Amino acid sequence: MDDVTQFTPNLARYEALMDVVRNRLTSRAFRPHITVPREHIELVLEAARHAPSGANAQPWHYIVVIDPAVKKSIAGYFVVEPSKRVKLTTKFPTPNYRGLETAPQTTLRSLIDVPEGLAIIDIMVFGVPAKPPFKRWEKSLAQIVSWNRHDMNNNMTIDDIESWVREIHHKVTYRGEAKVN
Ligand SMILES: Cc1cc2nc3c(=O)[nH]c(=O)nc-3n(C[C@H](O)[C@H](O)[C@H](O)COP(=O)(O)O)c2cc1C
Repeated sequence: MDDVTQFTPNLARYEALMDVVRNRLTSRAFRPHITVPREHIELVLEAARHAPSGANAQPWHYIVVIDPAVKKSIAGYFVVEPSKRVKLTTKFPTPNYRGLETAPQTTLRSLIDVPEGLAIIDIMVFGVPAKPPFKRWEKSLAQIVSWNRHDMNNNMTIDDIESWVREIHHKVTYRGEAKVN
C-alpha cells in the first residue's frame, strides 16, 4: 500500500497547536502591578531551549530582566529610537534600520553587562496585557504560497515592493483583521 494513503493526520493535535499559533498576539503595554512568576518565565525559557539551530550550535543566551530600574531604562530607549525612525521616514511603520546605527545599543549593553563582541538579537516582553490584544491583518495563503515553482502572479518587483511600502503597508500593518479585509 502507498505510504501516503496510510498517513492519518492527528487533527486534534494540529488544532491544539493552531490554537496557540492563531492566538499569539503582540502586546506593547502591560498591567504593571501583576508580576509574572519566575516559574512562568522558566516555562517559556524551557520552550526556547528546544529551538533548532544551525549545526545544533545553540548560539544563544537569555538575560531575564526583572529589575524595575533596568526595565525602565530599556523602555526609555524604545521611546527614543522610534522617534528617530519617524524623522528618517515620513510614514513609519516600515523600520528603517539605518536609525539603529545611532540607537544607544552600547549603553543597553552596559546596563545588562553584555560584553563587546556579543550581539543583542532581540528583546521580548512578558506580562498581562493592559488591554486585550486583537488579531492583526494577515496575508491570505494564496498570496504567500506557490507550489513547485515561484508563481509569477504573486511576484513583486522592487518597484512593486516600494509602492506597497509607500501606499499600503502603513495602512494595514497594525490594523485589525476585520478592518482591512
Ligand atoms: C522580527 C520581528 C521584528 C519586530 N519588530 C518590532 C518592532 O521593532 N517594534 C514593534 O512594536 N513590534 C515589532 N514586531 C511585532 C510586529 O509588529 C507584529 O508581530 C505584527 O504587527 C503582527 O502583529 P501580531 O504579532 O499581533 O500578529 C516585530 C516582530 C517580528 C517577528
